Amino acid sequence: MKKLFIYLFLFLGISVSAQQKANVTVNVDKGEYQINKHIYGHFSEHLGRGIYGGLWVGEDSHIPNVNGVRKDIIDALKHIQIPNLRWPGGCFADEYHWMDGIGPRSERPKMVNTHWGGVVEDNSFGTHEFLNLCEALETEPYICGNVGSGTVEEMSKWVEYITFDGESPMANLRKKNGREKPWKVSLWGVGNENWGCGGHMTPEAYAEHYRRYATYCRDFGENKLYKIAGGPNVDDYRWMEVMMKNIPHFLMNGVSVHNYTFTRRWEDKGDATGFSEDDYFSLLEHGLRMDEIVTKHAEVMDKYDPRKRIGMIVDEWGAWYNVEPGTNPGFLYQQNTLRDAILAGTILNIFHKHADRVRVANIAQLVNVLQSLFLTDGDKMLLTPTYHVFDMYKVHHDATMLPVEIDSPTYSRLGRTIQSVSVSASKAKDGAINVSFVNLDPNQSVEITCNLKDVKGKLTSANIITAAKTDSHNTFDNPNQVVLKDYKNGSFRNGTLKINIPAKSVVTAQIK
Ligand code: AHR
Repeated sequence: MKKLFIYLFLFLGISVSAQQKANVTVNVDKGEYQINKHIYGHFSEHLGRGIYGGLWVGEDSHIPNVNGVRKDIIDALKHIQIPNLRWPGGCFADEYHWMDGIGPRSERPKMVNTHWGGVVEDNSFGTHEFLNLCEALETEPYICGNVGSGTVEEMSKWVEYITFDGESPMANLRKKNGREKPWKVSLWGVGNENWGCGGHMTPEAYAEHYRRYATYCRDFGENKLYKIAGGPNVDDYRWMEVMMKNIPHFLMNGVSVHNYTFTRRWEDKGDATGFSEDDYFSLLEHGLRMDEIVTKHAEVMDKYDPRKRIGMIVDEWGAWYNVEPGTNPGFLYQQNTLRDAILAGTILNIFHKHADRVRVANIAQLVNVLQSLFLTDGDKMLLTPTYHVFDMYKVHHDATMLPVEIDSPTYSRLGRTIQSVSVSASKAKDGAINVSFVNLDPNQSVEITCNLKDVKGKLTSANIITAAKTDSHNTFDNPNQVVLKDYKNGSFRNGTLKINIPAKSVVTAQIK
């Protein structure tokens, strides 16, 4: 009899642990900040096949294109309503001389891309090609200027070339190159990673440079620049402190922060596919650190800017793995799995939580580089699992962030523990409430009871990204292994959403 009880207990114990439960409260009455759509920004650097082959194929290519840029990617980016695109780098920005990338393509000088693979850059994708692409995408350009190897004059003239509507040497040159009207550009980075590839400067030295560069980046006519200082690497809070203290706030609209996610550490990044569960756990545990990093930088910013005028611009984030075997180590080409979708959902939920301070963010990078949304091979193109998260989460663009409280089960590995459920919620302009859940646990589903207080309405839709394995991914032969699907497993009654979130999945439910 005693044995029977033990068996029964063990059986119940197992079945109880397999049925995880979480309670979530969405504070529908406490929405204060807007989730800036610009946190859904992207980044295309002259790096590997990020531009050439990935975006730019040239007007004469057999690959369908719009003014030289792949049509398949333009269409897919329009579908996710890309809000901004950062260019030309990255580290490349601080050795890019924009005048080499204008005028007839056949006459443009070539350069060596010393940061990325030492390949020859022929400058065929330059200012006009980039800004015309942004117009085709109906997205805002985010240009990063050269501080490391450039001059104040060079950057100042770039702004004039692009944005001045009148007679001037630079505006006339633009017209001569075929563009009569100026473009509108707001987001403007003054250098990139100036603590490293952008000049190995001290924060004090960079702040001095910034003051000069930013002074001469002028607002012409109606065009108002949103000037972004090159910010700290990961948790360099001192760098942030010096930016906030030494740069007059009227000269600066935002400070950038870069924070990548690795499986273990920089020297041992781990592989994009074929990873163990320990590596799955480690990667997500590291990704969750984004919350701490944003929180602590925000505390420094609050000290100098309590009215939150200056934005935190997380303009490089995402997973960084070992390159795919057999590919150029300088090209940073990696596969993208369900794990990356889980990471993206989790980090976007963190940005939502910090909507009061995080105004712009750019996942690195758009095509064929790091945690990309697209992989290409000649005329073939696939959408990665990360793309589908950006598709799912577009309902949060410019919506009001609704603070959430989460009572989550945990997921333990390697003697360490993380919360297995990540949640964020927002209220869209049309009144719809969208709640996004990520279940980081790869083994156990979780039954969510989500209290939306007095909200009346229906569960109008839900969708899901999941797959058989944590490293399931899309290939050119099998491009639909991980896609966005409708999800029918939920109910909404008396202000409470009940929904079962499968192991290793991202789900968004809409109540209206
Ligand atoms: O995104 C790849 C590189 O990572 C960027 O060029 C640089 O800014 C960062 O170190």
